[in-house]
Amino acid sequence: MLSHLLHLGGISSVVLEARSRAYCEERVRAGVLEHTSVAMLREAGVAERLEREGLRHGGIELGVNRKRYRIPFVELTGKCVTVYGQQEVVKDLIARRLADGGDLRFECGNVSLHDIDHEKPRIRVENNGAVDEISCEYVAGCDGFHGISRTAIPDGVLTVYERAYPFAWLGILAEAAPSREELLYMHHERGFALYSMRSPKITRLYLQCKPDEDIDDWSDDRIWGELQTRLECLDGWEPTQGNILQKGVTGMRSFVVEPLQYGRLFLAGDAAHIVPPTGAKGMNLAFADVHHLAAAFEAFYSKNNDSKLRAYSTACLDRIWKAQRFSWWMTSLMHRFEDEPPFDHKRQLAELEYVTSSRAAATCLAENYVGLPFGDA
Ligand code: PHB
Repeated sequence: MLSHLLHLGGISSVVLEARSRAYCEERVRAGVLEHTSVAMLREAGVAERLEREGLRHGGIELGVNRKRYRIPFVELTGKCVTVYGQQEVVKDLIARRLADGGDLRFECGNVSLHDIDHEKPRIRVENNGAVDEISCEYVAGCDGFHGISRTAIPDGVLTVYERAYPFAWLGILAEAAPSREELLYMHHERGFALYSMRSPKITRLYLQCKPDEDIDDWSDDRIWGELQTRLECLDGWEPTQGNILQKGVTGMRSFVVEPLQYGRLFLAGDAAHIVPPTGAKGMNLAFADVHHLAAAFEAFYSKNNDSKLRAYSTACLDRIWKAQRFSWWMTSLMHRFEDEPPFDHKRQLAELEYVTSSRAAATCLAENYVGLPFGDA
């Protein structure tokens, strides 16, 4: 996305990707786009398939005590979200960059950053059996939590803020037509469950599980049995079952580093911050970062004004922390915490009751879920 935005601004870039194109296009990840992310894709001219195939959702449902309560986003905020897999966004962007003659290099190995605190940083990279050295003006570290960019910053520069959660999600992709219109976030004594979808034929479901859960202990029958137990509602609704196409365990973590910049290296997305998936914020936060970063590079290259580059970290962090707060809150609201003091359990149930019965509380959830404004200066 950043490379495409830079291209639109007449700025050239090279994209280095560790994985193959097929891996990037097929790996199943989250699937909810905030209205702000959809607007960005639309304005950047890469929303054609998204407009056609994306599922517009005007709300979500919260389930508690086997009853569903709708949070009507459109009524409360005038906005909706769009369900469209992250790998579909990736496919569209790769296709567009290649069509525009973009320099995308897949299956890069041993990437290292040099002189990031000098005027001409260099990147050393192995690709197609050769070692290349790329000389550039700036480096955007968009290489995820496990990437090398963040670790290229000298010790003592970054402050790390982190929180672990005592659970993970077991996720499946199933060949089953969704039998609900919207996502259902279900609180249950046995643990949280999420009913989501990808298309009119494919559902995506998650179960709260142990952080070290072994996926091999979960047969398809056991997964469906547990989903059925946690999701079934008093009105008789239960998820439609189908062939499980893919399954995996996703860890949960909240993580932020500050600042997002060192010398000529700018961190964006998961390289700088991670949220637990409950608020569906991961890719959306990365989009907000590159929105600011692309605008800052454009101001620098077209007007020789580096004030936005210098303000990049501050411009992003304000909204990042609000999304961190929201993701932490949704996670705390919906999950069962083992060995939880009875007081906290009662407080959680009261909060669910409040969110599902007060328009003010529901509006607070809704405006965070659909996406807060970017806060452009
Ligand atoms: C998904 O469909 O993968 C999904 C939806 C909502 C979330 C997390 C994941 O909060």
